[in-house]
Amino acid sequence: MAMAMAMSKTSGSKLEHEAAKLVAVADILADKARRVMKAIENFHLLRELKKSSVPPHKINPTLASNFRKLSAQARRSEVVLEDLRNAYIFMTSQREHKVLLDRYNPLVDLTAEERIHATARRVGLDMPITHEPENDNCDPSSITFDESTGESKITSQNTLNSLSIAAKHLTNLQPVAFPTETVYGLGALALNNSAASCIFSVKGRPPDNPLIVHVSSLDMLHSLLPSSFKMPKSYELLMKRFWPGALTLLFPSDPNTIPSIITANQPTVAIRMPSHPVARALISLVNTPIAAPSANSSGKPSPTTAEHVRRDLSGKLNLILDGGACGVGLESTVVDGLQEDGKIRVLRPGGITVEDIQETLQEGIRDRESVPQVLVHRRDYRDEELEAAPTTPGMKYRHYSPTALVTLLMTKSPLPKSVVPSNVESFLLSIKDTINPSASVKVGLLTLTDSALGTLALPVVNGVEWCRYELGPSDVPSVTARRLFDGLLTLDQRGVDMILIEEVNETNEGLAIMNRVRKAASEVQWITF
Ligand code: TXA
Ligand code: MG
Repeated sequence: MAMAMAMSKTSGSKLEHEAAKLVAVADILADKARRVMKAIENFHLLRELKKSSVPPHKINPTLASNFRKLSAQARRSEVVLEDLRNAYIFMTSQREHKVLLDRYNPLVDLTAEERIHATARRVGLDMPITHEPENDNCDPSSITFDESTGESKITSQNTLNSLSIAAKHLTNLQPVAFPTETVYGLGALALNNSAASCIFSVKGRPPDNPLIVHVSSLDMLHSLLPSSFKMPKSYELLMKRFWPGALTLLFPSDPNTIPSIITANQPTVAIRMPSHPVARALISLVNTPIAAPSANSSGKPSPTTAEHVRRDLSGKLNLILDGGACGVGLESTVVDGLQEDGKIRVLRPGGITVEDIQETLQEGIRDRESVPQVLVHRRDYRDEELEAAPTTPGMKYRHYSPTALVTLLMTKSPLPKSVVPSNVESFLLSIKDTINPSASVKVGLLTLTDSALGTLALPVVNGVEWCRYELGPSDVPSVTARRLFDGLLTLDQRGVDMILIEEVNETNEGLAIMNRVRKAASEVQWITF
């Protein structure tokens, strides 16, 4: 593939050289043409004179000889003119050929159908892809990194092939789904407008929701930052501890480097370095940053397996790299440490816990007074202006919602004064009537393995089929985090009419879990046992 691309690049630059030569020839020809035209003009003048009552050669012998010379010149000129005309036709066709080559060179390695789609996108058409996306397997354990250069070493030929195909799609400005340690991402070249715009059309994502840019090395990060930017101490500490990993940091965006489609015209750009070997190797292979939101249709739960992506986006993209199930299972933690007060604001809790962020800052900054406070949006502070903008992750738009309605069962938090709780048994017995009294229903339950709800024997109710999916033990929230989206998507796949999901403690990963669960749920029910 690399050779084919190199060849098409070579033929492109050869043509460019040919075109430059042709332009120089055209200039010379144009100059000649001007002179020929002048001669023809004189010739016409003389012909007019000839037509007049007194022939010019009879008036003045010098004029007569000039007239002869000019006539001969004009006859020759017609030949030159014909040559000129042919040269001009040849040149314009070569120019058109070069324009077409420039435009379609990147497509030479694609199949006919891929070429049609890429062409359609270039001219602003959004054509549905009719075939199934390819699922290419990658073995993450076959990939290692040289931490000083950020370059990858891949020992499995199969993985190398899959990554090369994915890199080819990306450089051809096409999106590719790939695994990260958090969730599967839908990647496209971050610094190319038309590539990045595909992400929005494939996901059905509103254009005012900015994207995270993924880098594979610190050098790549620095290539994106404005030269005047001074890295805050807090960022240095956080990057040292959590990069590569599930932490996204906001940086000032340099509008000369980052397209506005990525930032949705915000003054900041969100950047992270993923730790998943497949994600990092892919970025290092294309050697340019990759923009990647979660690889789901807007509003749906994020995918944590290649199969989730295929079910959701099949027909909308050509390639899904399959690197197995994601280890973290929830998206990265989005952090803004750029405010003047130096405080660390967690805009979206995620894979890196607030507790770990606090601990890292405390360990790294000796002077206790100087350790920045870590604030979680909505838990510790509100920002109305921010909340009105879609840049606060998950604020403006519907999020994480499977097809089935989700009800959050509150079992731990103190009961608010105005709320009357339901007894768990009577709630479960009455559920069929709330969903559909006249037909059989399927009810999904996402419960912890050791909680009161998780260990409850479910009542036998006529016309109700219970489908339970376990979220792991209550004291290991990282397991619940890994299983949450898979639980929502698996129950949806089983065709449940409603999903009941149990509240978890909001410590460590629990904060991010409850953040997603609250957004997925359209109803909240307080339960007693
Ligand atoms: O783990 C992750 O972060 C995954 C994987 C694929 O890397 N990506 C992901 O992207 O979750 P997405 O687009 O689904 O969520 C990114 C969130 C969005 O809600 C967006 O509002 C926020 O990050 N975001 C992006 N740029 C921002 C910015 N400049 N300021 C504030 N928030 C931003
Ligand atoms: Mg998302």
